[in-house]
Amino acid sequence: MCGIFAYLGPQNNASEIAITGLKKLEYRGYDSWGVAALDREEIAYYKKVGKISAYSTGDHAFNPSHLAIGHSRWATHGGITEANAHPHFNSAKSIAIVHNGIIENYAKIKADLETRGYHFVSETDSETIAHLIDSHLPTHTLEEAIKLTMSELEGRYAILVIKKDEQKIIAARRGSPLIVGIGKQEFYIASDIPAFLEHTNQVNYLDDDQMVVIDHRGPQYFDLRTNSPVEKRLITIDWLASTAEKGKYPHFMIKEIMEQQETIRRAVEQDNDEIQKIASAIENAYGTYLVGCGTAGKVCLAATYLFSRIAQRHVNFAVGSEFSSLQHFIKDRSLMIAVSQSGETADTLEAIRAAKTKGAKTLAIINVKGSTMDRESDFSIHLKAGPEQAVASTKATTSQLAILTLLAYACTGQLAEGKRLLLETQSQITDMLNPRYEDHIRSLADLLAEVESIYIIGKGVNYAMALESAIKLQEISYIHAEGFAAGELKHGPLALITTDTPVIALISNDETRQDILNNCQEVKARGAYVIGVASENNPVFDFWIKVPDAGISQGLVNIIPIQLLAYHLGLLRKNDPDMPRNLAKSVTVK
Ligand code: F6R
Repeated sequence: MCGIFAYLGPQNNASEIAITGLKKLEYRGYDSWGVAALDREEIAYYKKVGKISAYSTGDHAFNPSHLAIGHSRWATHGGITEANAHPHFNSAKSIAIVHNGIIENYAKIKADLETRGYHFVSETDSETIAHLIDSHLPTHTLEEAIKLTMSELEGRYAILVIKKDEQKIIAARRGSPLIVGIGKQEFYIASDIPAFLEHTNQVNYLDDDQMVVIDHRGPQYFDLRTNSPVEKRLITIDWLASTAEKGKYPHFMIKEIMEQQETIRRAVEQDNDEIQKIASAIENAYGTYLVGCGTAGKVCLAATYLFSRIAQRHVNFAVGSEFSSLQHFIKDRSLMIAVSQSGETADTLEAIRAAKTKGAKTLAIINVKGSTMDRESDFSIHLKAGPEQAVASTKATTSQLAILTLLAYACTGQLAEGKRLLLETQSQITDMLNPRYEDHIRSLADLLAEVESIYIIGKGVNYAMALESAIKLQEISYIHAEGFAAGELKHGPLALITTDTPVIALISNDETRQDILNNCQEVKARGAYVIGVASENNPVFDFWIKVPDAGISQGLVNIIPIQLLAYHLGLLRKNDPDMPRNLAKSVTVK
């Protein structure tokens, strides 16, 4: 949440470089944005309310500068105004900061500073940082003042700081991601890799309670707790810059939906020994607990069904934000499996740390190589889906499902069979995602564009996918959508069904099929408009979305037409499918 970016190097258009980088981080926040640059010993800045994508190069005349920081905001403290947009300053405007995260004790610090005569111009927690650094400056160097400031802040943050007469950028983190990109005599800092991928794929990750000082000689890292220098390993990111672009597609969301024509294959092309080793860890664990937030949480729920069916194993599931209230059952022989696209989600990360504190082993199933979860877990499996930039998760979801299916097969010694089945699923998806299919879904979107509510029902793994369908429809169409276990309808939700209420049924060709078809009859008898997502048509369907018969992977396949439906509903309702209102990708605040 919130994108931050910095550039230092020989090019003299640092502000424009920062804006270009921030545009690639817009999925992290799009309420307002701003940049600050060193301009002949002064700090020049520019702030705007609205999306940074609305800015075109040259819209503002920036003076030449070799050093700039920038921020794209997802509001936490204070409304969406220019005053609350970053960067924030001390009163003399000699220090500029940008901040991602939440400073939990800002109110107290602000009150103290105000009694000492400091004047605040925004409602943000972030402005506190600039004044606090200022308060330490008379007697300390900038580095020392930042270190002292960090020791006083509580909460989760990533910050960038510049000072008017110092040709350097200082960054520090606790909880929110920061990655340093190392180019040829030029340096970048960003909350996520796609921001600078066109310039370099060589990175250092900043860990919690670390600070980096970058000047023209390069980065120097420090541990804020021990006050000692830290050596960093240079990591090569194997994403091509082009994979972070929309290419021929109008939106990242549709590009990423279509990429599912090959991402399952990449997900299952894992090292057999590694997968087998992790499967053994699951088998030997005294309880396996899956944790994820939002869509990743629905994937975890789906995995409980997959492990039960494929491996006859019970695995537990908890929503990331609820885990702290459930962690008491974790033992030192437990295994936690954290599922996350970004590898940075605050609640999931906290769950990993809680499990580690209890001595449990941790496995991260993540897309972003080198992310905090990747670095902090005992084992990692990478989705290899390439950057996912639309706020709504699509290709990462199906890759996560594929990997969990593979693990379940590996637990029964049938890894090769699992791979074979998933590769078959991949070719079925490739066939399915053709332009005619998209047209068919678009025609359904036309029918549903003005409805008030959509209900989605499923049984078994399709129940988890019904919940995930609801998330997709809510965030992209803004239509009220809810998922239910089909068998639960009679226990309450059936009261919501009236004439023409759309009910989408996600169906597998297994023993759950007849039950859910019966549930379809029940809602139809009460006037519902039934949309069946199934491999075979049925008289009860008013509208049929054909999906391939994918056996064990049916849940994975069934979610794809719903992703397309959400996308087209979003377009018809004039929403931005890549940047749904009020949301942001990579939720690094709690
Ligand atoms: C919804 C969506 C979110 C994420 C959730 C977890 O489409 O994308 O619900 O799934 O914020 O994010 P990650 O997977 O990065 O941990």
